[in-house]
Amino acid sequence: MRPSGTTTRKPRADAIRNRERVLEAAKAVFSAGGAEASLEAVARSAGVGIGTLYRHFPTREALFEAVYRREVQHLADLAEQYNLILLEDACQAHGADYFSERDGCWKRAGSMGMAAAFSFYPGKNLGACGEAGAVTTNDPELARKIRMLRDHGQIRKYYHEVEGYNGRLDAIQASILLIKLKYLDDWTLRRRKAASRYGELLDSPQHEIMLPYQPDWAQAVYHLFVVCVRNREQLMKQLSLAGIGTGIHYPIPLHLQRAYNHLGYSNGDFPVSERLSDEVLSLPMGPELTAAQQERVAEEVLKSVELRPQLCAAAAAG
Ligand SMILES: Cc1ncc(COP(=O)(O)O)c(C=O)c1O
Repeated sequence: MRPSGTTTRKPRADAIRNRERVLEAAKAVFSAGGAEASLEAVARSAGVGIGTLYRHFPTREALFEAVYRREVQHLADLAEQYNLILLEDACQAHGADYFSERDGCWKRAGSMGMAAAFSFYPGKNLGACGEAGAVTTNDPELARKIRMLRDHGQIRKYYHEVEGYNGRLDAIQASILLIKLKYLDDWTLRRRKAASRYGELLDSPQHEIMLPYQPDWAQAVYHLFVVCVRNREQLMKQLSLAGIGTGIHYPIPLHLQRAYNHLGYSNGDFPVSERLSDEVLSLPMGPELTAAQQERVAEEVLKSVELRPQLCAAAAAG
């Protein structure tokens, strides 16, 4: 804390430049090598000494957070600068919050961009009993267009202004969602509690398992609880044998989907996405998950991860 009575001196220009350089380099290095890339590599790439890096960012977390906090903020700035439209995919984010430095307040997912898409697919945090979804926007003209599009492009019954589609939310699904909406905040709290319990149960520097990271400017709603492990297939198998269901979200990155063959991307073009699609594993998560169930999941996960070095040693000896 700054002692009272002192004046606020502006940091010197070279210090600001160094900080900027480190942030730019960190963005590139983390993108190429993942969050565990070495800070020495970041300092080298920024052309500053490691001491300078530590002066600006005393811990890896501080640097990581500064890089990604800027990322979110930058999206809005870039959209403004290049006259782009910022759209949110909030399909897994019902009730998630983000602190906007620019506006100095917390903002709810679905309120940042010009419009946001929410999915009410049955498995979502707020799920219908069939297909359903919604778009949020503060733009009245856009709202008018979306209402029209979802209803065969009709401006009013039988008057089709544009070609639309049949995307209305049906009344039965809407009534189910209205009832479930009352419980959403409570379910979110339970998911957050479950996430923090997993954090405690699975946290250990010896284990090769990366847990979700939540910076202090975000409040996640944990639609999924995704961990990263190098021996994912083995872990999945072990959990399945123990009767524990898991999922992979998602196994094939977008650029390698056959549907996007025509874009001409191939393996190696997005190494971070490719590595993550090999390593991510979604553990059981939901508002009804009990502490005992989580303890059993954690026990099996740790058993499997701990088995790995023994298996490697056995393989080397054999
Ligand atoms: C992030 C994200 N975007 C979009 C979608 C698509 O939602 P829907 O199946 O309701 O069209 C999903 C659903 O899994 C999602 O998780």
